[in-house]
Amino acid sequence: MIQAIELTRKFHGTTAVDRVSFKVGAGQTLGLIGTSGCGKTTTLRMLNRLIEPTSGRVLLGGRDVAHQNPECLRRAIGYVIQSVGLFPHYTVEDNVAVVPRLLRHDEGQISRRTAELLDLVGLPPAAYSKRFPHELSGGQQQRVGFARALAADPPVILLDEPFGGLDQITRGQIQRDFKTLQRCLGKTVVLVTHDVFEAVFMCDQLCLMDRGIIQQSGTPADLLFEPANDFVRDFFRSQQFLASLQVVRLCDLSPHLPFDAPAPGRTPLLTVEWDISLLDLVQQFQNHDTASLVVSDADGTKILNTTIPSLLAAFWKLCADRRKRPE
Ligand SMILES: Nc1ncnc2c1ncn2[C@@H]1O[C@H](COP(=O)(O)OP(=O)(O)OP(=O)(O)O)[C@@H](O)[C@H]1O
Ligand SMILES: [Mg+2]
Repeated sequence: MIQAIELTRKFHGTTAVDRVSFKVGAGQTLGLIGTSGCGKTTTLRMLNRLIEPTSGRVLLGGRDVAHQNPECLRRAIGYVIQSVGLFPHYTVEDNVAVVPRLLRHDEGQISRRTAELLDLVGLPPAAYSKRFPHELSGGQQQRVGFARALAADPPVILLDEPFGGLDQITRGQIQRDFKTLQRCLGKTVVLVTHDVFEAVFMCDQLCLMDRGIIQQSGTPADLLFEPANDFVRDFFRSQQFLASLQVVRLCDLSPHLPFDAPAPGRTPLLTVEWDISLLDLVQQFQNHDTASLVVSDADGTKILNTTIPSLLAAFWKLCADRRKRPE
């Protein structure tokens, strides 16, 4: 859907982004991660031509963005920045309507679409559409920012640290809501973040950058379990445990766990999805020492009688196996 080919940007002779290439498939989320100043925002802004590359190309749906007019690009690519950037003197509904008005959509259609979007991001229009940004909390402003980015129904959305500046609980809630929303709307997303947990939670693919260069690209599990170099290993170190619990799914552990066929007459405790992350599973266990889980997949229903220690033992074994895997 969107592809960067050898993107390079120099500022006053210094290379901020150095031959960065990646491809994001339709409906996928790619995370650009790395420490401050490594070139994430510059890369993102080259995708929608807010910054022109010194060399390299961006293809959107196979077409070079350099040949597309900026208005079409604005329609095709939604953009959310860290500071939200709402217009302070516009109401919530006018903020959401900015791009559709630029594109001269019909007013009746704009008003229906704005109400629908505010509902979608959890801000009922009856209560919120007439408010001004200063009458909203930071998390609510962020939701308006998402609604605005979705307003022209762009297939691609760029997010630059969209959850920064929010407390941990609000941040977690908005991350989950956005992920659900993204799955149902099928948008293609490029997310810039320096939060490791957010990256592995939200993204299908990651590009970890350092000083303008991609150090490693791959799935979150590839980077966590098979780091290409010491920089990659060190970047994930402080969050390795939680991030790995998020990345590993119950189905990944199946070779290491004793599943049984269901026994008639016994009521299992929890019914879970086969691809539930281990982190979610452990959280569901919270009030139980042992649990029998029911999982169903294409091959039928299975039962697992287990405890947190046995799940963790299987998890450690899987992590050790992946780290040892030969090239
Ligand atoms: N307009 C500019 N003029 C000169 N240098 C710039 C300009 N914009 C960015 N840079 C430099 O390019 C490098 C990359 O900046 P960029 O904003 O892309 O980093 P980042 O990874 O987004 O960092 P952060 O996580 O702090 O937002 C930095 O060294 C920055 O100082
Ligand atoms: Mg930045």
